[in-house]
Amino acid sequence: MNQATKNQERIFLKFPDRDAASKFAAEIFCTAYRKFEKLLFGTATGQTPVKIYEHFIEMMNTIVGSENDLIFRQLDNYISPDSSEDNLPFYSYQTELKNSVWKVPHLDAHVPHEWVSPDAEVGRYITIIEATNKWASYFIQLLGIGDKDGHIAFNMPGDAFDSTVHVVDLNQETIEANANKFFGGDTTKVPKQAITSGIGDILKANAIIMAGFGKAKADIMHRSFFGEVTTDVPASALQTHDGVLFVILDEDSASTIVEKEGESVFTNPEDLDIWESL
Ligand code: F6R
Repeated sequence: MNQATKNQERIFLKFPDRDAASKFAAEIFCTAYRKFEKLLFGTATGQTPVKIYEHFIEMMNTIVGSENDLIFRQLDNYISPDSSEDNLPFYSYQTELKNSVWKVPHLDAHVPHEWVSPDAEVGRYITIIEATNKWASYFIQLLGIGDKDGHIAFNMPGDAFDSTVHVVDLNQETIEANANKFFGGDTTKVPKQAITSGIGDILKANAIIMAGFGKAKADIMHRSFFGEVTTDVPASALQTHDGVLFVILDEDSASTIVEKEGESVFTNPEDLDIWESL
């Protein structure tokens, strides 16, 4: 892996709305697939990626002539003894992606899912991370961000920047946020623990796409990329990432950056040669 890692580069992109932003993010993933023989695509859950995946599936199915291979590797998952494809959003993303991208000759997907012993699953997933990192000629990671605390995957404030896969006790705020997103507001249905890749695993990516849309993400976007690098804001670890970082925003989530740093921070998407930037 890492054949193509360049030195640190940060590209801030602002779009009129979420759909345009999602389409561009999908274009980056498809370009990476066309460019690299063995692409490892680190997937995220939550609401942010939904439209990105829709555009990605659509674009991937129009690609002709590529023999390149693709592995999806999910960042995190709830620990739920009752987990099934029906009751966990995480599973359905993976299933949908794997089933929908039908033009890729070699396709695989990994997600933490064996709950008999969470500790054993941590070990199994670490082995998967090492093996897929080794397999890949390029690793591109998609991330969303926690509105208030800047969590990435389930790495919460205070987590070390060099962490690897671990079990997390979800805090009340995360449980409530997930209840509203996925479980009709019912906190009793939300699993209380999760397994997550560590920040150290995320930082190994050649390219990271951080996407966040809407006013609720505006403050944390500015704090993460222009504030102090601190474990209090897990996403601020991305300032130390040695590779290319795309921060993909809409007008609302970009608003604090525009206000405090000015328009000059942003690259015009039309001027960006995605192939060259990877
Ligand atoms: C990623 C993940 C979380 C979300 C974050 C933002 O797999 O579990 O880190 O990215 O909570 O969630 P949304 O996108 O729903 O705002």
